[in-house]
Amino acid sequence: MGNIIDGKQLSLRLKGEMAEEVKALDAKYGRVPSLAVILVGENPASQSYVRGKIKAAGEVGIKSDLITMPADISEEALLAEIERLNNDNLVDGVLVQLPLPKHIDEERVIDAIALEKDVDGFHPDNVANLWLGKPCVEPCTPKGIMQMIAECGFDVAGKRAVVVGRSNIVGKPIAKLLLDANATVTIAHSRTADLGAVCREADILVAAVGRKHIITADMVKPGAVVIDVGVNRDTETGMLCGDVDTAAAQEVASYITPVPGGVGPMTITMLMKNTIECFLNRIVK
Ligand code: GUN
Repeated sequence: MGNIIDGKQLSLRLKGEMAEEVKALDAKYGRVPSLAVILVGENPASQSYVRGKIKAAGEVGIKSDLITMPADISEEALLAEIERLNNDNLVDGVLVQLPLPKHIDEERVIDAIALEKDVDGFHPDNVANLWLGKPCVEPCTPKGIMQMIAECGFDVAGKRAVVVGRSNIVGKPIAKLLLDANATVTIAHSRTADLGAVCREADILVAAVGRKHIITADMVKPGAVVIDVGVNRDTETGMLCGDVDTAAAQEVASYITPVPGGVGPMTITMLMKNTIECFLNRIVK
């Protein structure tokens, strides 16, 4: 039976280390890193994510500022707020929680965030830098996944990695990070023919589709490392569940991440790491 990769526990340790780092930065530079989070509307999932981000910032000693805006705020008003934060020299990171209300152009909003404050790593120039192998802010979820794989002591180089899902936030960037770590990477998705056969090739299997239990135990290669990025609500029980049938897949895998308590906490923890990175990039310039 495989081991659980406890994202909560790993997050606690990393946040403890970052808290020490932030104290040292405060002593050296006379201020701590600061993060501005914009939440538009009242989407309960977004509210919950944002609460988690603000709480983590407090634990690490990062200064955070939550800016809430009504769902009917105009795009211009949101862009003006981003511009204000871009110009505030004491703000190191600007994050706009997604999704945004339909009347707001998400791309235009992400474009407006100053590149050096893009703690999510979503800005097109950041994405370009990631793919060109230039210095960049790595998006939080993929960055957290790589930390979890490293935590298993698993050497990615030369291994087969299969990423199921092709989103801009997870699927595409995790494929690039795995490629950078010298894995041989396949990007599969919900329309891949014989998904099971493709997944069974994977020494590292990353599931990021957003469909409950799309990955069953028979799709897992014995001894594989399985990373479950799915956050789905079970319509019968109301419980959170992942894209992987965890209990059954754990019997086959060597390591597997739980939902909840796996990738989720690590995503938030990596946001703290990115905020510190942006602070350092800005302050030493
Ligand atoms: N919505 C879901 N995930 C994310 C994320 O990582 N960042 C932002 N800004 N919004 C999200």
